[in-house]
Amino acid sequence: MTQLAIIGGTGLTSIKGLEIIKREVVHSPYGDPSGPLIYGRLADHELMFLPRHGSAHTIPPHRINYRANLWSLKEHEVTHILAVNAVGGIRSDMEPGTLVIPDQIIDYSWGRTNTFFEDGLESVVHIDFTQPYCEAMRQVLLKAGKSADIPLIDGGTYAATQGPRLETAAEIDRLERDGCDLVGMTGMPEAALARELDICYASVSVVANWAAGKADGEITMESIDECLGQGMGRVRDLLETVARQL
Ligand code: HPA
Repeated sequence: MTQLAIIGGTGLTSIKGLEIIKREVVHSPYGDPSGPLIYGRLADHELMFLPRHGSAHTIPPHRINYRANLWSLKEHEVTHILAVNAVGGIRSDMEPGTLVIPDQIIDYSWGRTNTFFEDGLESVVHIDFTQPYCEAMRQVLLKAGKSADIPLIDGGTYAATQGPRLETAAEIDRLERDGCDLVGMTGMPEAALARELDICYASVSVVANWAAGKADGEITMESIDECLGQGMGRVRDLLETVARQL
C-alpha cells in the first residue's frame, strides 16, 4: 500500500485545505521529530504531514533532527515522501516563483548526522545514491503538474548548503561552476536518509529568491516570504493532484 507523507519547508508549515484527522506525538531512537505527525485528508485522500522546521517555524536547517523525522515516518508506514523545499534560483530560467523538480544533488552541508548506518553494524553499508531522487515520484509530480496545468521545470541540480545564513555571491558563483542550478539548506541529509530507509522521495523546490549576486540588492526574509506565499498556492494545488493520482 502507498502511504504518502509531505514534508513541508519554509512557507509550508500548514497546508490550506488539509482536513486534520489527528496529531500524533512520536519519539524515535534518534530523538524527537520536528513535531507531531499530522494525519490528514486532502482532496479525499489520506496523507501525513510533517513541517520540518516545526509548526511555528522555529527549527533552523542545521538543527533539524533529520534522522528522527525520517525514522518516525518510516515507523508509521510511509512509503513515499514529497518534500517541499524553498530555494534560491541560480540558473537563469529559475526565477522567483518557479517550481522545480530537481534530479541531482551536490551536498555542501557539514556537521549534520547524515546516516542511520553507523552504530552496531554487522558490516559497513554504502547505499547507491547515483540518482538521489526517486524517479517514480518525480514522474508522478511531473504528471500532476501537466494535468493541473502547473508549470514545472523537470530536472536541476540542488546545492545543499549549511545555512542558516544565505550564501555570498562568490559562493554562488562557485556552485554555478560546479553545475548547481538551485540552492537550499534542507535537501540533505533528508534525501539520503530516505534512501537508506528505502522510502521513495522527491522534492518540489520552490524558488523564493534569486541566489546571492544574481540580482541587485539585499535578499530579505520579507521578499522570500512574499514570494513563497504566492508559490505555495500552486504547490498546494500540485499536492492535491498528487494525492489524487498516487
Ligand atoms: N540559499 C539557500 N537557501 C535558500 C535560499 C537561498 O538563496 N532561498 C531560500 N532558501
